[in-house]
Amino acid sequence: MPTSDLGLDQTLAALGITDAAQVTARFAEVRRHFDGQFQTVHDEADWRLFRDRWLGRKSGVLTLVTDNWLKPATPELKRDVGVSLNALRAHVESQIEVRRLAIESGAEESTLARERVDLSLPGVIRPIGSRHLIRQVFQEIEDIFVSIGFSIVEGPEIETPYYNFEARNIPEFHPVRDDMDTFYLELPKSAKTPLLLRTHTSPMQIRTMEKQKPPVRVIVPGKVYRRDNPDATHSFMFHQVEGLAVDTDITFCDFTGTIEYFVKQFFGPSVKTRFRPSYFPFTEPSVEFDVSCPFCGGTGTAAGGGTCSKCKGAAWIELFGAGMVDPAVYGFVNYDAKKVSGFAFGIGIDRMAMLKYGIDDIQVFFQNDVRFLRQFP
Ligand code: FA5
Repeated sequence: MPTSDLGLDQTLAALGITDAAQVTARFAEVRRHFDGQFQTVHDEADWRLFRDRWLGRKSGVLTLVTDNWLKPATPELKRDVGVSLNALRAHVESQIEVRRLAIESGAEESTLARERVDLSLPGVIRPIGSRHLIRQVFQEIEDIFVSIGFSIVEGPEIETPYYNFEARNIPEFHPVRDDMDTFYLELPKSAKTPLLLRTHTSPMQIRTMEKQKPPVRVIVPGKVYRRDNPDATHSFMFHQVEGLAVDTDITFCDFTGTIEYFVKQFFGPSVKTRFRPSYFPFTEPSVEFDVSCPFCGGTGTAAGGGTCSKCKGAAWIELFGAGMVDPAVYGFVNYDAKKVSGFAFGIGIDRMAMLKYGIDDIQVFFQNDVRFLRQFP
């Protein structure tokens, strides 16, 4: 029953209540009404509304009963109405207080439950990143060369054709440029020289020799770019470590000894190395260094019989290009080609990492799949 049906806006006389029994019955009805509404009060917001509806000074139920039933009651009924009203007031006030206490302690309990620290729960795990495998391989290679007296230098990834090609003894229409096609920057017409993304770390040979007189022993780790279509062994961006040693009497033996030392440190003492004649415009003679296949132990046969899939039965795997610095290169940096000699090499880091760690697709280095990255913590 809505509160409005209790007749609170009328006098008892207007409601036809004329004796004590009717008064008692009407107050019992009001109390039932209160008890019914009371069941629906569960939280603090409900409780406040409920309290104001019953105890509000201006238009609360008890105020209306006082103003409309008690005050205008006939002298015969006044006492009965007063007694019933007091009993109703006591009931209403005590119940409202009881409910307030219940709501408060319930709220406290749930706050406590919410804030309780459960020491048996696992902690918050914040994953710690690790260095990318390429970065780890850079570090391994740098450590080996630093331990035998090389320093590390780094250079710009955006280069001029002069440093990337001409000073490397690769003139404009040299066919080698076809193998090293790259990305050119869009520049204003007024630009003095075109700019490109370097195709190898070799430009830093020139930049280093321009700044420094022999002896020079440097390695140059860094990113390089080529207009190569991506496949399992090619990427348009990859990594190299360049090496350069120039001094007054560096021989071919120093060169092969250094490379052999590096390869055995990197792959382990049991690998064998060999070099084959090759061609680079900036080294003379030029070689390709091969390593005995680390997967089949240089036999060409897989562990379970059959042809080794990595070296395709050749027993050797091509590692990188190198050679004695072509005397023509010294002309670009004002070194006296009659007095100095040296060697240089350019190691493809991605392929070295693939070989050492048995990875058969270069693309995984650039996909950032954590399932791959987590294998190399
Ligand atoms: C050079 O870049 C020479 N500058 C190396 C050099 C330096 C020779 C000094 C002599 C003296 P080449 O083009 O072969 O050489 O590349 C070197 C290595 O880079 C290759 O052996 C290979 O491991 C890697 N490489 C070349 N192209 C790609 C590519 N698209 N993706 C991934 N690795 C590549």
